[in-house]
Amino acid sequence: MQVDLRQPWRIGPVEVPTRVVLAPMAGVSVQAFRRQGRRFGAGLVCSEMVSCAGIEHRNERTLGYLRVAADEHPLAIQIFGSEPQVMAEAARMVEAAGADLVDINFGCPVRKVTKTGAGATALEHPARAERIVGAVAEAVSVPVSVKMRRGLEDRSRAALELGPRLVEAGAQTLTLHPRSARQMYTGTADHSLTAELVSLVDVPVIASGDITSHARAQAVLATTRAAAVMVGRAAQGNPWALREILDSGPDDPSPEEVVAELVLFVRETVRELGERRATGFLKKFYGWYLGRGRFPKAFKQELLALPTLSEVEDRLFAEVPGARFVLQRLEAEQPIVDEVLLDDMPISIFGGG
Ligand SMILES: Cc1cc2nc3c(=O)[nH]c(=O)nc-3n(C[C@H](O)[C@H](O)[C@H](O)COP(=O)(O)O)c2cc1C
Repeated sequence: MQVDLRQPWRIGPVEVPTRVVLAPMAGVSVQAFRRQGRRFGAGLVCSEMVSCAGIEHRNERTLGYLRVAADEHPLAIQIFGSEPQVMAEAARMVEAAGADLVDINFGCPVRKVTKTGAGATALEHPARAERIVGAVAEAVSVPVSVKMRRGLEDRSRAALELGPRLVEAGAQTLTLHPRSARQMYTGTADHSLTAELVSLVDVPVIASGDITSHARAQAVLATTRAAAVMVGRAAQGNPWALREILDSGPDDPSPEEVVAELVLFVRETVRELGERRATGFLKKFYGWYLGRGRFPKAFKQELLALPTLSEVEDRLFAEVPGARFVLQRLEAEQPIVDEVLLDDMPISIFGGG
């Protein structure tokens, strides 16, 4: 059975134009990543996880994660925390910021998060997890989604017990990354669990984990009957993977396209995070964009050694002069982005990083 990945589907009132969802990734899913993902065909994009405590305390950096650009809808903003009322209040802010969905993180395996009772820990505390989802669903009028791992321990089936209860509590879609928290990113995602979850709930399920090709996406959708696949690591510095997964053909970019997309990404990230934060943040992206056999390894090392981003840009253009023209076209096509107002607090997307 072939699934049409460009077929729209719905999460409550939200229409999602394709069956490929861009994964939330901490330290990766900045606005530039999400806007690029939408341009390359992701039907839904997601912010990285945002601390509800940070929102509660109006932490400036946390509030920066709530910036929404006009061209990234539909967008989910993901929150994490362990207190239902604090999560509900954070969800109200997320809705006010313009998110189309509030996503709740019940999957993060990192100890800094789990030891506070947030992330994957919720999988072992079903009553609290239900209260969180109930409080958030009550607080906002946009749909609420939940992203889970399979459980804390290998072979855990916690997500299957919890999933239907979370739907009962108000979740309108569930995303399952069927690895345990203990597994982190080792082993493989066991999508037979995703298939079980689909059979247990009457809301759309998104399958996350190891979706790296059109064939894999087709196989997972066909065998699980999930509504959509989520793509994470395969899309890091590689938006072409999204088009390849959607349309099946290999989508090898030219060096000009790679460099133009990277420079656009650098410029947008500087605007979002400010030059200083962006400089460190962007380092991992050089390897992601220029690797995969696209450029020699030494070229990445050269970029990493350059002290400023304008020198990085100059070096990239010196290597691939034609990229300037591709970039000009990309920038001309980018719509102007909006400024978002939160509780009378201007959060300019042009700075404040
Ligand atoms: C660097 C990184 C950061 C991540 N951060 C988040 C996060 O903030 N919230 C979340 O729900 N999942 C997060 N994930 C998990 C991904 O969303 C996804 O479920 C997982 O990577 C499996 O998909 P993949 O095989 O396509 O990468 C993260 C994964 C990676 C690699």
